Amino acid sequence: MKVFLQTFGCQMNLADSEEMFAHLHARGAQRALSPDEADVILVNTCTVREHAEHRAVSFLGRLAKWKQQKPGRRIIFAGCAAQRLGEGLKKEFPFLDLVSGAKKIDDFGRLLDASGLFPPQQETLPPQQEGLTGYVTIMRGCDFRCTYCIVPSVRGPVKCLPAQEILQQTAQKAAQGAKEIMLLGQTVNAYKDGDVSFADLLNRVSEVPGVERVRFMSPHPAYITPDFLAAVRHNPKIARHIHLPIQSGSTKVLQEMKRGYTRQMLLEKLAALQECGITVSTDIIVGFPTETEQDFEDTLTLVDKARFFAAYCFKYSPRQGTPAAQMPQLGQDVLEQRLDILLNKVRDLSALAYAQQVGTRQQVLMEEENKGRSSNNFWVKTAKNYKIGSIVDVEIARADGTLLFAKE
Ligand code: 5AD
Ligand code: SF4
Repeated sequence: MKVFLQTFGCQMNLADSEEMFAHLHARGAQRALSPDEADVILVNTCTVREHAEHRAVSFLGRLAKWKQQKPGRRIIFAGCAAQRLGEGLKKEFPFLDLVSGAKKIDDFGRLLDASGLFPPQQETLPPQQEGLTGYVTIMRGCDFRCTYCIVPSVRGPVKCLPAQEILQQTAQKAAQGAKEIMLLGQTVNAYKDGDVSFADLLNRVSEVPGVERVRFMSPHPAYITPDFLAAVRHNPKIARHIHLPIQSGSTKVLQEMKRGYTRQMLLEKLAALQECGITVSTDIIVGFPTETEQDFEDTLTLVDKARFFAAYCFKYSPRQGTPAAQMPQLGQDVLEQRLDILLNKVRDLSALAYAQQVGTRQQVLMEEENKGRSSNNFWVKTAKNYKIGSIVDVEIARADGTLLFAKE
């Protein structure tokens, strides 16, 4: 049995796909590199914006033909869109074999067995960790209730994994060649297990033999605490890059989004991060229902002040059942216009950030023999060749677009 994984959405979904694959692997499955050679396609889906859900559902629609081409083929539809749309999907897509919503991930093995479509579980080693980055999910779900967001309803409340289990998984990935550990969670820095805080966990994970660097995704600004900043200052293994979604630069909109912080608080936190030498990338939503021209202007001026490394910009998308979807909506033309203006502003941010690295010293984790990534997340090309997986200390001689060149 060969399984092809088709994942839509975030880093968390990629990790979830691997976790679901591990259950299939324990039932005798191998990885397929294309749908053509696969007996099973696992579609792991996203519903954060309407467009993401459309893509997942239309992909499913196109699988009707794939399924007919060979008897015994199976389709599993999993993740956030599967959670939202539920078993009802089987009416529209009768060829669909199994629906497994995002809340069911812990139950996936049992679901496979209950379906009777797969062989029973055997004693097997987990699939081999690939590449230099080991992904470890440390928490799932979200306890915030941002008014635009569907995630809490499809993923449920926060559940943190025990720290011991996270350390074991980290050790296993490091033993299989991971040099960098990426900790994952919807609000990853809200992590807590008894008296183990997120800052403690970062330190403990970085102490696991073989771990050279620790990253995490996606943090919430409310949990950028003095405790966290202290951990970063003292521990060079914590990466000097953070992807911190701000969503808006207007205090009024942030309040209406129920984000739990103001523009002023954001500016203070961003300054503290920059003081630690951390580069920041972000997510921004334009056209939230109550966003005025002035509110949008506040987002633009915040972008000017913040010196982001990159900003991913989204048009607000109403999600069924969320409070913001009940509010009077702005016109699509306004959303498009604002997105256009913001995109023009953020287009050159990365090139600018790259240019500013010239003259600095960076620790580069070599992902190829002559190319790697610095702790603050820039791509660096080296003059000499090095062992893949080693960390080299270099001075940055010049920048060309989104590539730095080292002089050694
Ligand atoms: N509309 C537009 N963008 C959204 N995001 C989350 N919900 C919505 C929505 N309803 C964006 C946020 C989040 C990113 C993953 O998706 O910016 O950080
Ligand atoms: Fe959604 Fe807000 Fe939770 Fe992030 S913090 S997943 S935006 S509700």
